[in-house]
Order: sequence, then structure tokens, then C-alpha cells
Amino acid sequence: MLYIGIDLGTSAVKLLLMDEEGQIQNIVSREYPLSFPKPGWSEQNPADWLEAVVTGIRELTADCDKTRIAAIGCGGQMHGLVALDGEDRVLRPAILWNDGRTAQEVDYLNKIVGREKISRYTANIAFAGFTAPKLLWMRKNEPELFARIDKVMLPKDYINYCLTGVHCTDVSDASGMLLFDVEHKCWSPEMLELCGLRESQMAKAFESYEAVGTLKPDMARALGLAETTVVCAGAGDNAAAAVGTGTVGDGGCNISLGTSGTIFISSKTFGVDPNNALHSFAHADGGYHLMGCMLSAASCNKWWMEDILKTPDYAGEQAAITPEKLGRNRVFFLPYLMGERSPINDTGARGCLIGMTMDTTRADLLQAVLEGVAFAIRDSFEVARSLGVEIPRSNICGGGSKSGLWRTIMANVLGIPLDIVATEQGPGYGGAMLAMVAAGRFPSVQAAADALVRVAGTVEPEAKLTALYEERYRQFQKIYPACKALFPQLL
Ligand code: XUL
Repeated sequence: MLYIGIDLGTSAVKLLLMDEEGQIQNIVSREYPLSFPKPGWSEQNPADWLEAVVTGIRELTADCDKTRIAAIGCGGQMHGLVALDGEDRVLRPAILWNDGRTAQEVDYLNKIVGREKISRYTANIAFAGFTAPKLLWMRKNEPELFARIDKVMLPKDYINYCLTGVHCTDVSDASGMLLFDVEHKCWSPEMLELCGLRESQMAKAFESYEAVGTLKPDMARALGLAETTVVCAGAGDNAAAAVGTGTVGDGGCNISLGTSGTIFISSKTFGVDPNNALHSFAHADGGYHLMGCMLSAASCNKWWMEDILKTPDYAGEQAAITPEKLGRNRVFFLPYLMGERSPINDTGARGCLIGMTMDTTRADLLQAVLEGVAFAIRDSFEVARSLGVEIPRSNICGGGSKSGLWRTIMANVLGIPLDIVATEQGPGYGGAMLAMVAAGRFPSVQAAADALVRVAGTVEPEAKLTALYEERYRQFQKIYPACKALFPQLL
């Protein structure tokens, strides 16, 4: 049989076709627009996602025997608010995970209602990208639309709804709404009430590897697939990517360098960071995880290359960063181009390049951008360590991890070996693995990971370079506190 994995990302949807043994038979990618209607705002049109998924699946499966396609699983960008009316029409563009418009609502939830209460209800505190503050924003700024909301959905759940007609979500993605009681895996009545919502407006929450239904007849026709094709609940993209790198069960770690940058620590048992700097979410394997998420990771590199240098030659630019330059850069970059989530939770934070002199080169600036992202991941890594979590090594995945240079920088900034898995395909691979479990190919996510995921290579840190980066990281740590008070004055 064959399985389709969907990675519903921020810049594009990536689809892959996988066989019974986990071999990838085909990959297709389709971009869609992302709009920033105001500084710090970030929106997308759900119709663009659907169009890209439908045409993408058709292209992906064009040359295969479609009767062999057993199941579809999606890993999707998290936290985005997709509001549907009573006839399941999208009420407004989706407000995405990296949208920073809800600073006031976040303050209301964390300061007036109180962090302690919110954390008790949901295992998390409010961050601007989460779904609950967006609903409060809509209630205040778009009251007529808010009154028409019949269903609150997340991005990949909207796609699953279009495929099956079932209003569904999964526990990993639901965790990021700040409406979900993560420990008990159910909607939080207190949070729903605070946001002016009824439970009937929420989708049914499944485990990520459970089947939510099969293709609706019209969708089956549009895709050219059988109506018996199973659609599984899928997962938030970080949980799906973690599954795809075998980061399941107790004590695994996965670092993702995608548009966002995340550090993901898996656990069989529920736990909360007492300071809530790291998110405490359900995992797609039936367990839980802690996660730190920076809002701009590979997107900092993309911004620097494409918007500033105006070149598509990523490898050529990186070639100028020769090994002896590593750990010796005097230029630093704060990667807060969309504000920042973990661990500083500051929507007003901004990007900075600091430390240039007349001999600073183009290569130094690019190096600073790559290093700034690594240092910011280290910030969340340090929070995890301060909780007593041991991270002796990690997997690494995502677009940014394709760069050998960036992997070396990451391994030495963190001081741990980083493993690359043979079938590194981010959330799409994990989505297909979840689909396999839903269709009965494997009895559990752990069993799928044991059978399919294999480490293909490791980047080892070098003692000398780690020591140099340790010094640089200490310097990096001083920059944000020194700039913090300035940012609100720079509007
Ligand atoms: C995680 C987060 C991002 C998005 C990116 O909390 O907001 O990683 O899921 O798609």
C-alpha cells in the first residue's frame, strides 16, 4: 500500500508519497502567498492551502496505482485561527502562528486573569501566536465576525475537514490553542468561557495517529482517489517532524530549522516548565513534549539572502564562511524579525545586527545571521537544561538543516552531537507515518519509528570550537537585555 504525507507549511505545502517500507516514491511542493497586512501581522488564505493540497495530491499520485493509496496524514503549521461560519465558510483570512497583533490580549490573559490560572487550565501561558488570544482580538476588533463563528479550526484541521467532512483536530495541535487542557487531553471549560466560546464550537480532538474518517465522495473524485482512503488526525508540524525523525517516547530531542526554529523534547509523561518559558504540549505518539519555539529561524536566512542580498545562491554565499571564521565572528544578530516567542515572549522585540567595524565583510554578516539563530535556539536549550532535562544529543531537521555549515554551527553552539536521519523530510514524513498507524500498517507510532527511521549521519561538536562559541554565546546573551527597553521606542 501507499501513504500520503502532507506538510502544510507557512511558505508552501510539501507532499510526499511513501511505500510500506517507508521509502519515498515521489515529492511535490506548492507555494502559496503569505501576507503581512501590518507590521507584525501574518495571514494566509485557507482556500490557497486547499487548492495547493488538491492540485498537489493530483500531481503527487499522477503516475501511481491510486487504488494502492491507503491513507493520508498531515502535519500542519500550528496555532493559526481558521474561523468558520454555520455553513463552514471561512470568515476571514487565517491569523497565523507568527502573528504578533495580540500583545494586549496576551497581557490580559497573563496579567489580569493571571499566568498561574492559565497554566493550571492549559499547562501553558499566553503567547501572541496562540489561538485563544486571537479569538479575544477578534471578539474586540471584529465583533460581527466573531458572533458568526460556528467552528474554530486549526490550519491542517481545516484541510482534514475539507477532505472528510469531519470537524476534527488532534491532541498535539489542540495543545497550542491555549483552549485545551493538555494534561487531560480535553477542552478547558474555563478557557472556553474566558474566550466567549462554547464547546460545540470546538472540533473533536483525536490522538494524532487515529483515523478521523475517509474521503468525502466529491473529494475522492477531485483527487482521483478511492472513497475508502483513510484520513488520520495528523499533528502539529513540530510533533509530526519529531515523529519523522524518530523523536518519540522518553527523552528524545529534535531541533527543527524551518520558518520557525524549535527544540522539541519528547516524554511519556506530562510535565510543565514552572516558568512556562517552554510549551507543554501533547505529542503525536500518545505522550507529551516540551518545546521552545523561535519565530524566525530559516526565515532569517531567507530574508537575508533573498530580500537583502537578492541572491538565490545560498551555497555560494555560505562558501565564503571558511572554517577558521567559526567561533570568531565579532558581529552578532538578534533574530527577532517577527518579535519572539521562546523564551523571551516579547512581540515588540526586533532584529538587530550589532558589532560591525570597517573591516566587517558580507560573509561576516551572513555568519552572524546563522549564528544568531543558533544562539536563540540555545536560549531555549538552556531553559530545558535548567529544568533538569538532559539533552545529550538531538536530531536535526527542516530546510535550514540541509546546510552543512549551519549544522556545524548548531552542533558547536549547543555542544552536542546532532543526528540526521536518512529520510529527513520534516513533518511530511511524520504525517505519512501517522497515516500508516491509522491504516493499521503499524500498531503504534513507536513501532513505526523503530521500523522506518534510521540515523544516516552525525555532526559531532569539536571541543575547541564549542569553547569559542561558549564565549560568543555569553556575549550574545547580553544584547537583548540591553536593547529590550529600546524596542518600544523604535515604532
Ligand atoms: C510552534 C510554532 C511553529 C509553527 C510553524 O509552536 O508556532 O513552529 O508550527 O509552522
